Amino acid sequence: MYRTHTCGELAIKDEGKYVTLCGWIQKSRDLGGMTFVDLRDRYGITQLVFNMETNADLCGQARKLGREFVIRAAGKVRERSNKNLKMPTGEIEIDVTELSVLNKSEIPPFTIEEETDGGEELRMKYRYLDLRRNSVKNNIILRHRVAQEVRKYMDSIGFIEVETPVLIKSTPEGARDFVVPSRMQPGTFYALPQSPQTLKQLLMVAGFDRYFQLVKCFRDEDLRADRQPEFSQIDCEMSFVERDDILDTFEGLAKYLFKQVKGVEFKEPFPKLSYKEALENYGSDKPDLRFGMKFRDLTALVKGKGFQVFDGAEYIGGICAEGCSAYSRKQLDELTEFVKKPQIGAKGLIYMKYGTDGSLKSSADKFYTPEDLAKWAETMNAKNGDLVLILAGEKIKTLTALSELRLEMGNRSGLRKKDLFCPLWVVDFPLLEWDEEEKRFFAMHHPFTSPKPEELHLMETDPGKVRANAYDLVINGVEIGGGSVRIHDSAVQKLMFKVLGFTEAEAENQFGFLLNAFKYGAPPHGGIAFGFDRWVAMFGGQDSIRDFIAFPKNNSGRDVMLDTPSTISEKQLNELMIDIRKEKK
Ligand code: AMO
Repeated sequence: MYRTHTCGELAIKDEGKYVTLCGWIQKSRDLGGMTFVDLRDRYGITQLVFNMETNADLCGQARKLGREFVIRAAGKVRERSNKNLKMPTGEIEIDVTELSVLNKSEIPPFTIEEETDGGEELRMKYRYLDLRRNSVKNNIILRHRVAQEVRKYMDSIGFIEVETPVLIKSTPEGARDFVVPSRMQPGTFYALPQSPQTLKQLLMVAGFDRYFQLVKCFRDEDLRADRQPEFSQIDCEMSFVERDDILDTFEGLAKYLFKQVKGVEFKEPFPKLSYKEALENYGSDKPDLRFGMKFRDLTALVKGKGFQVFDGAEYIGGICAEGCSAYSRKQLDELTEFVKKPQIGAKGLIYMKYGTDGSLKSSADKFYTPEDLAKWAETMNAKNGDLVLILAGEKIKTLTALSELRLEMGNRSGLRKKDLFCPLWVVDFPLLEWDEEEKRFFAMHHPFTSPKPEELHLMETDPGKVRANAYDLVINGVEIGGGSVRIHDSAVQKLMFKVLGFTEAEAENQFGFLLNAFKYGAPPHGGIAFGFDRWVAMFGGQDSIRDFIAFPKNNSGRDVMLDTPSTISEKQLNELMIDIRKEKK
């Protein structure tokens, strides 16, 4: 046996035992006659001691050990004189009597400790070293735990995990596909799945009425903190169910995971908010419900007093930030700059301070009497000490900008706490979205999402009005998962493709396999997919999913460790019959 124990398990109860440990040298210190070494492995750190007086030869060897050398050390466990109660092994040390170097290490490019001097890019390049750091390592272990709990729960309620292929067919909807050229059929391509959507529906046709899979998905889209080009889903589908059966089932999974992983119990059902309510109250289809600050519509109240900003606006909405009436000129200017940023797009910000002394002061004072302002305060539900912030303009744009302002105020007031979780279902999404550029409808979720049956008749006359049997699970302002009841009738599926602007031949060419399958007894079915990386990152209390993926890509989609995407050889290109076009100057 290489080792008798790990570096994380020895304690005072083990005093006197003769043990052998293996690991990496985190750091060493020479103090007169003694050399102390912190030995690290996956489980923790144990202090080794080498004594010049009792074993000068061994101590001499220990002094030559460099950072990240891999060693094996044996000796007796003894009580430390200088205890470190912050460490699980901090009461003991190993009085080393045998030492062997299993491998040397070059000086690492950054310090492999919690407080590291390595920048993001460097740590990504040497990801295997970064993964030795406690925080990153713990994220990966957390991911493992969540995955095990998902499998345990899904198995316990009769879902079976089925793997679906990674080389599939390119489809025109959704994000851009990553494609893989075929050598055996030159000039043709596979696509990597953006999700196993159609395959899981085929599994329903096949009769596997409860399917799930922890699965890699690939999307060639612009990246953000919560988006990677390859990411994982907990992908699920069920047959013979209606919407609420699906929501109940997966609310069960969510509650189970929260309890097992975070020790958080939700006794009440998750609230359900329609897409319309979410937009009108929070300006977003993924509202952060850790705090209130609901929007109030002031349009009717404030118009008609000669204030052009309001009079010319389609919509005027406000939020009330509790206890913020003492905001300074500078802070208000910062907020104005914030809402005017191009990505937020408001033209300006109107405020009203409800002073602790009861005074009402607004940046539009010239146009409004104290009585008007009192009505604003009443409508906004504002109290002494609050700050009302108002945006005006075109409705959807203003709602969206107000949503950003709400989140900003939530941050500033410390209301978005990492250890508070507020899940909700957003339901009744529109089925279709109009694309001004392409002058056609796109499926808001995907083309297999069922319209609400009572609105099916509008599909040909007023498709923009049709709502979908679709839903998202949103937690703390993050879309953790989304799904829908599916179309299981080939006539409705054909109609959907028609509304999306596919000719019959195009629909047949792209989705013939599915339309065909529906001819052979497709059961009513529906499902959901959760962003596994997002869920784990949320449990880990972080916004970026990158640190919860062992080998992630950077913001430009590069793997800087593997140094890819990269060119391939002329020979490979020839086999694939691919010519690379010279870039046009
Ligand atoms: P959707 O496209 O909404 O639905 O994806 C489901 C969930 O996957 C996560 N997600 C991502 N996570 C990290 N990086 C990305 N680039 C990324 N894109 C999406 C989100 C999202 O909620 N087949 C349907 C599901 C269904 O209808 O059953 C689908 O893929 O958390």
